[in-house]
Amino acid sequence: MKASLAPGLHVAPGQAANALAYDGWVGRWSRLFVPMVITAAEVAPGCRVLDISTGTGEAALMTLPTVGASGFVIGADIAPAMLVGARDRLKDPSFCPVAADGQALPFKSSIFDAVICQLGLQFFPDPARGLTEFHRVLRQSCCAAVCVNSTPERAPMWGFLADTVSRFVPEQRDVLHLGFALADPNQLEHMFTTAGFREVRVERMQREDTIGSFDEYWDPIEAGMGLTPQVYLALPEAGPAGGARGGEVTPVTVRVERASYHECRDVDRGRASVEANIHWDRVHPL
Ligand SMILES: C[S@@+](CC[C@H](N)C(=O)[O-])C[C@H]1O[C@@H](n2cnc3c(N)ncnc32)[C@H](O)[C@@H]1O
Repeated sequence: MKASLAPGLHVAPGQAANALAYDGWVGRWSRLFVPMVITAAEVAPGCRVLDISTGTGEAALMTLPTVGASGFVIGADIAPAMLVGARDRLKDPSFCPVAADGQALPFKSSIFDAVICQLGLQFFPDPARGLTEFHRVLRQSCCAAVCVNSTPERAPMWGFLADTVSRFVPEQRDVLHLGFALADPNQLEHMFTTAGFREVRVERMQREDTIGSFDEYWDPIEAGMGLTPQVYLALPEAGPAGGARGGEVTPVTVRVERASYHECRDVDRGRASVEANIHWDRVHPL
């Protein structure tokens, strides 16, 4: 069965965002890169920041203390369910969630002091159009910083599950690998330049964290938050009681669980890793 994916691709249609599951699958990894994104975007006290693809507010949460009460963060996302998660989590008067497609922002030109986009641009159907919008809404000399996943091999925490599930549904391989679609720094740099940026800088960053047990890895996946978990759950024989936990054993659950859990981390140390590329530049005078 093919997973039916809602706009934004991360929450199942008609469902609420499960912030805990999202945190286990993506959020805890995403936040390891956010400080660099905030620095690259030159966020400072009093800044008016646009956090595009805010999701459950991972980057916004870390940005708010820097902008302080004299600034604000608008968290834009195409998925209303993610925005509800962000609003419930942040509860900060300086944070404003807005439902918007990052490719057609509902804002006037030249009004933000910084634009950040943390692990979202790779899911846009037309990321170049998104970057053009980021450039448009920024004030002169102000910066945009974008963080995207590296390749599946360099981000094995997510790459092995995407590769493993793809073997069962090869016709959905492309959608499963959307998260890695902007892994080529040269290609993304070219898009930045086409959007009007001129002196794009790129930094490759690797981050590690411990996955202490199978359940810690698998529970967020089984909760179906995120693109790959949704496609996994739609596999014909995938079920909530997986083989590795001694529940109902089906060929699909056992093979997907074992392959991805054992391959995504260093078995001896229990460490998994994610590599991401951060691209940034400012709006230069004409
Ligand atoms: C991997 S999550 C990242 C969320 C958050 N920035 C973080 O780091 O945890 C990707 C987010 O991009 C959003 N998204 C996908 N396509 C989008 C688009 N065209 N415009 C705005 N947001 C989009 C999704 O709804 C989702 O919340």
